Amino acid sequence: MTDRYCVFGHPVSHSKSPVIHAAFAEQTGEALEYTAIEAPRDGFAGAWRAFVESGGRGANVTVPFKEDAYRLCDTLTPRAERAGAVNTLILEADGRTRGDTTDGAGLVGDLERCGVTLAGARLLVLGAGGAVRGVLEPLLAAGPASLHIANRTAAKASALAADFRDLGEVSGGGFDAVEGPFDVVINGTSASLGGELPPLPDDLFAPGATAYDMMYGAEPTVFLRWASERGAETLDGLGMLVGQAAESFMLWRGVRPDVTAVLESLRRTL
Ligand code: ATR
Repeated sequence: MTDRYCVFGHPVSHSKSPVIHAAFAEQTGEALEYTAIEAPRDGFAGAWRAFVESGGRGANVTVPFKEDAYRLCDTLTPRAERAGAVNTLILEADGRTRGDTTDGAGLVGDLERCGVTLAGARLLVLGAGGAVRGVLEPLLAAGPASLHIANRTAAKASALAADFRDLGEVSGGGFDAVEGPFDVVINGTSASLGGELPPLPDDLFAPGATAYDMMYGAEPTVFLRWASERGAETLDGLGMLVGQAAESFMLWRGVRPDVTAVLESLRRTL
């Protein structure tokens, strides 16, 4: 039987993961099937069990199931433990389910691929929700000089910073307390979805700074447009999407796909 993989979401029809993993499989010569499955909102664990019984070997997990996936795992990687969320399920040889989260590795890998130096950089992360929590450990492992988290709800940023302070120079607060300049600014809020921009000072960016939006679309996000007007180099989150998929593929198959080739063809379809 062909090894089966899938992405679970609700909704899930918009997901680009099946296209990305099909491209990885073709590129690496791995024989596998990858589909999108819409699990019932209150039935994630059952959907995973049924998938395993039908030959499922692993899965990606997207909104709204990342915390459900975290709870059902028998074992977790340290970074998934920290994130409190899982985007990759791995069926182990003994039948146990292992959970990992590859979003942060996808983000850091994309920044590195684009030539952005994180080591020694002054880093600002906007937002303090699940998406940001999921990437903090790999960002801090890259060795920035400092990492500040700014959020609309200041208390959430402070609490999140406290959870990661053992890993580096981390601070948190509201948008009004942001003091630049920064070398790398990462937008992890969902504000761009509604076309909104967090209230940020104009002098946020150091010379040569990079602005990264974890979101992507056919057009630059409102955050990236704003950053570009202030002289920053801009990157959207499509590379992070392909990068996290590549990390999952590596965990399942032990083969590392070429991100750049797949990213370029995906970009043309936006
Ligand atoms: P996700 O899984 O995408 O992180 P989340 O956990 O609901 O979703 O977090 C959403 C993030 O976007 C939060 O940081 C939220 O700020 P608050 O904590 O103050 O709610 C931020 N956010 C959403 N809409 C925003 C807006 N219009 N302006 C600024 N921040 C916004």
